[in-house]
Formats: sequence, structure tokens, C-alpha cells
Amino acid sequence: GITHVILTGGVGSRLWPLSRKSQPKQYLDLFDGKSLFEMTVNRNSNLADKVMVVGNVDNCHLSRKVMEKSNIPYIDIIESTPRNTAAAIAFAAFASHPEDILVVTPSDHIIDEMKNYEAAINEAVEKAFEGYIVTFGIVPTKPETGYGYIERKGDDVLSFREKPNQVTAKDFIAKGNFLWNSGMFCFKAGVFLEELKSFNPEVYEKSKMAWDNNANGILDLEMSLDIPSISIDYAVMERSKKIKVVPSTFIWSDLGSFESVYDFLVSTGHSVDKNGNMVIGSNNYTAFVGLKNTIFVYTDTANLILQKESSQDVKNVYNELERAN
Ligand code: GDD
Ligand code: MG
Repeated sequence: GITHVILTGGVGSRLWPLSRKSQPKQYLDLFDGKSLFEMTVNRNSNLADKVMVVGNVDNCHLSRKVMEKSNIPYIDIIESTPRNTAAAIAFAAFASHPEDILVVTPSDHIIDEMKNYEAAINEAVEKAFEGYIVTFGIVPTKPETGYGYIERKGDDVLSFREKPNQVTAKDFIAKGNFLWNSGMFCFKAGVFLEELKSFNPEVYEKSKMAWDNNANGILDLEMSLDIPSISIDYAVMERSKKIKVVPSTFIWSDLGSFESVYDFLVSTGHSVDKNGNMVIGSNNYTAFVGLKNTIFVYTDTANLILQKESSQDVKNVYNELERAN
């Protein structure tokens, strides 16, 4: 069968203070009362026979609320601490039959043009049946540094380049055969685990330990803390020889940083002043003097003022606050 695996354990640290540990961005009601998580569930409800939600103990009540409302049967995998995507996906694979096809998607993306989306999924599922690990590549529209890039020839992957700097990203765009890594994947559970085991045995073994020692669905904390925190991109995609890419043309955006939120809000008519300054989270009249491309984020308990171009650095604030706690 086909299982839709929803990754929802990230904290969205680049969107602090909008996104919090207790209320990550995928659960914010940003779109007509719907969260990105709910939109992800609905978008894939016809594509798979099973749903698995891999989330975090601090906010699993939020995913449960949505799943209960949807009436879709699902399996809950609850991490006691975030260990990044390689481990999160391994847990879903351990919970599956080795021949099951997993369609893994983040829960924090904007996706549109369902016909193209479904065509891409179907193509990926076919390749996954043949034993490939499939990634979905999006034709880039700008040298975004917040994404991973896939260098390709047809559907073959030549290299995988996670979050390049600006100069490198510009070079990729100029070369023309680079796609954005959408962070969505499709493979047989067994194939993924074999590749993880051969390229990153430590993540494999330690994830297996934590998985085997779950209590009431919650993975053991101490064993989880021992798992190296590494993304699927570094752990498997950059190293496996079984990767294929499905070049995709559906509308796709990761609202990962304030720069992409800014672009998205501008496209939906949110106001910006003549120097490109924007306020998020407050209707108070706000004046910007001598500033350009500045974003002011207002919340009840914390504010953020940032230069739009520095959007990727917001995670440092989050990390400092975490360390101080
Ligand atoms: N369950 C669980 N546990 N989920 C996690 C964890 C974890 O420890 N860490 C991250 N996730 C979830 C996030 O909630 C998100 O839905 C997804 O996994 C991807 O994690 P991000 O933290 O958002 O990754 P990223 O945006 O920096 O980079 C990835 O996605 C980009 C596209 O959005 C990479 O795959 C890039 O190459 C890619 O371009
Ligand atoms: Mg992301």
C-alpha cells in the first residue's frame, strides 16, 4: 500500500517569534482559518491508503485535533525531542512493511495546481516501486539560499547541494540544470532503511533503539537524545546511488523564512511602504524612517525587527533563547 508520512516535528525557528515551540508555523491559522498542516492532510487524502504523522510531544495535541476533525484513520509517531528528518523518516519506515511505499511530505508548504501535483506523485510512486528513492524537484525562480538544490540530467541526480551561499546559488541558476529540492520524498520503506543503514549506520541503529523502546507511542527520550541530528538530505540523498528526481511544475513554496513569507504576503495584497518595509502581526500605524526592506514582527510576548535579506539568521535568535532556558 501507499502511506502518506507527514513530518511535523520541526519548530520553524527561522519564523520566530511567529512560530514557537508550542505553536510551530504549520499550526498557525494563516489561511482562511486553515493551517498549513490541515492543508497538507487534505491535499493528500486521496493519494494514499494510510496516514502517518511524525510529530513532537510538545505539540502533538495540535496535529491530533486536525486529524480527529478530518476523520481520516492515522498512526501517530511521537518524538520526545526533535532529531531532524533522517531519524523522523526512519521511525515511519520502522512502523511500515518494507514493501510499503512511503510518500513523505513536510507539513509547512504552500502547494497549488493539484493536477500537476498528482501527476508528480503518481510518477514518483511508479519509480519507487522499481526500487528508487525519489525526490521532487521544483524549477527555481530565484537564487534562494534557504533550499537544497538538485543537479540533474533528465531524471538522474548528478549531485545534491544543501543550502548553498548566494554566489553558488546564482551559479546554479545560471547553469540551468538545477532544481530546488522540495523536501518531499517517495520510496519503499525497506529501500530507505537499507540506504540509511549503509550510509549512516549510527542514525539507523540509534533510531531503531529509540523506536523499539517507545512507551505508549512516545519514543524514549534518552535514546532519542543519542541519535545524531542530521537531515535526510545529508544522511541519504547526497550519498545514495538509487536516487531519481521527478521534475515538477506545481506551484510550491516553503514559507520557511520571513523573506518567503514577505513575498507570499505581497502576492496576496498585504501592505508594504514605498521602501519595502512591512509590519506583520499588528494593525497599529507603524512608521519606518530611513529604513529599507525592514520587517517588523509583532506578537504579544516578543517582537522582531529584521533586515529582509538576513531572514536565514533568525534561527540564531531562537537558538540563543533555547540555550538561555
Ligand atoms: N517529526 C519531525 N522531527 N519532523 C521534523 C524534524 C524532526 O526532528 N525536523 C524537521 N522536521 C520537519 C519540519 O517540520 C518540516 O516539515 C520538514 O521536516 C523539513 O524540515 P525543515 O526544518 O523545514 O527543513 P528545511 O526547510 O530547512 O530544509 C529542507 O526542506 C527544504 C524545502 O522546504 C531540505 O530538504 C531542503 O533541501 C529543502 O529545499
Ligand atoms: Mg522547511
